[in-house]
Amino acid sequence: MKDIAVIGVGYVGLVTAACFADLGNRVVAMDVAEEKIDKLHQGIMPIYEPGLTEVVKRNVDAGRLSFTTSHADTIKNARFVFICVGTPSGVDGEADLQYVRQAAETIAQVMDHPLIIINKSTVPVGTGDWVADIVRSKQPRPIDFSVVSCPEFLREGSALLDFMNPDRTVLGSLDRDAADEVAQLHLPLRAPIVVTDLRTAEMIKYASNAFLATKISFINEIANICEALGADVKEVAAGMGLDKRIGKMFLDAGIGYGGSCFPKDVLALHHMGIAQGQKPQILEAVMAINSSRRHQVVAKLRELLGDDLTGKTIGLLGLAFKPNTDDMRDAPSITIASLLSEAGAVVKGYDPVAMDVTRQVMPQLALCKDPYEVFAGSDAVVLVTDWNEFKQLDMIRAKASMRQAVVVDGRNIYDPAMMQEMGFAYRGFGRGYSGDVKLDG
Ligand code: UDX
Ligand code: UDX
Repeated sequence: MKDIAVIGVGYVGLVTAACFADLGNRVVAMDVAEEKIDKLHQGIMPIYEPGLTEVVKRNVDAGRLSFTTSHADTIKNARFVFICVGTPSGVDGEADLQYVRQAAETIAQVMDHPLIIINKSTVPVGTGDWVADIVRSKQPRPIDFSVVSCPEFLREGSALLDFMNPDRTVLGSLDRDAADEVAQLHLPLRAPIVVTDLRTAEMIKYASNAFLATKISFINEIANICEALGADVKEVAAGMGLDKRIGKMFLDAGIGYGGSCFPKDVLALHHMGIAQGQKPQILEAVMAINSSRRHQVVAKLRELLGDDLTGKTIGLLGLAFKPNTDDMRDAPSITIASLLSEAGAVVKGYDPVAMDVTRQVMPQLALCKDPYEVFAGSDAVVLVTDWNEFKQLDMIRAKASMRQAVVVDGRNIYDPAMMQEMGFAYRGFGRGYSGDVKLDG
């Protein structure tokens, strides 16, 4: 049993705290947001993540997991301190490190014994060294500490599973003993552990997320070409993915990536490259392709409903940036709703778990009580998030309630032939709907 402190109980911090406790460690997690800690004391999760409530409860009951708003209390007995605060995009696309700075400064001020400080938040290359400088300069008296980078690779919606079954653990530090101690913490996960220097570890995180985002933009570019030539991108991706060198994951074409990581991480990596005099051309293309996907939704609607969307009622099926989360950070639904409103359409939507968050981030959006209300009276419905519960809807019932039977499937979850047979004007992404195919020569 090790003593662990976790600073920040957001999507990453809370999962990290709960899972380390579940592995038998004693974990004290803290957050500056009192309402989050109050909720946790009542057994209410501040975020939606499948399975989290049970794991938190089990470990709180066993006395291995507790919550506080005090930095001093969280690190009182700790050997390891995980920094899991947010690192949103700053004004120019660089990562905003103000919360990491606050965490580092406070750790320095309250620590009274040697600590290993671990950066789990995604931070620009060089941040580990910067954190070490901050801690050193803010300590009232010198106390030993080391900084280790241990980037998170947790997908929202399957974060507990990802934590317990990682493909690898990446550890970066100039202090080999500290890295070894952190490696011990991860041994029960039985995954390969890559130990390297701080900057390389930080770069592994950015390069990994940028590569996955690139895969998505790549398949979206292929989807455009498929659409023009009458090929089906879903089958193309399946055929490509069987090649082990390519792999089948992250080849789902559609309205592209959103969320709290890919958009900000690609932008931040691009920013780091530019700041060093590089021209990150692939990253530029990845971002441009991704942003154009959201506009394509509106283009497809115009194709089906006519150029003028004024007064048309459009329903959004799914609002969170991906299924199994309530996270709306950089969710495609926000851009699509605002483009449609600007075009004069009346927009409404439904999400199985992100309704409360939607009320905060899109207070103007009319909310429906279930998926069928999204269809009722609509001129078109856009499938934005591929929640399982949307996959087997009663489409006959849905169609009968629509003003016009138009569906734009942003995640390619429906069968185009079946939708057409049922009488829908249906558009997926890259599924060979261009009509006449003109081949060169
Ligand atoms: C994380 C990482 O921080 C980010 O770098 C990574 O790329 C994605 O995941 P996430 O857990 O999703 O972010 O962020 P969020 O849900 O916003 O949680 C951060 C928490 O830290 C919040 O609860 C916030 O209140 C807390 N916080 C912030 C502190 O406790 N102290 C601070 O000084 C600032
Ligand atoms: C990501 C990383 O995968 C994870 O390792 C960690 O670094 C945090 O960031 P997350 O953003 O939670 O995880 O979800 P992910 O499953 O990666 O999906 C990101 C976005 O890409 C979602 O909007 C999803 O809908 C989209 N996506 C994913 C696609 O459009 N196509 C795909 O094939 C896969």
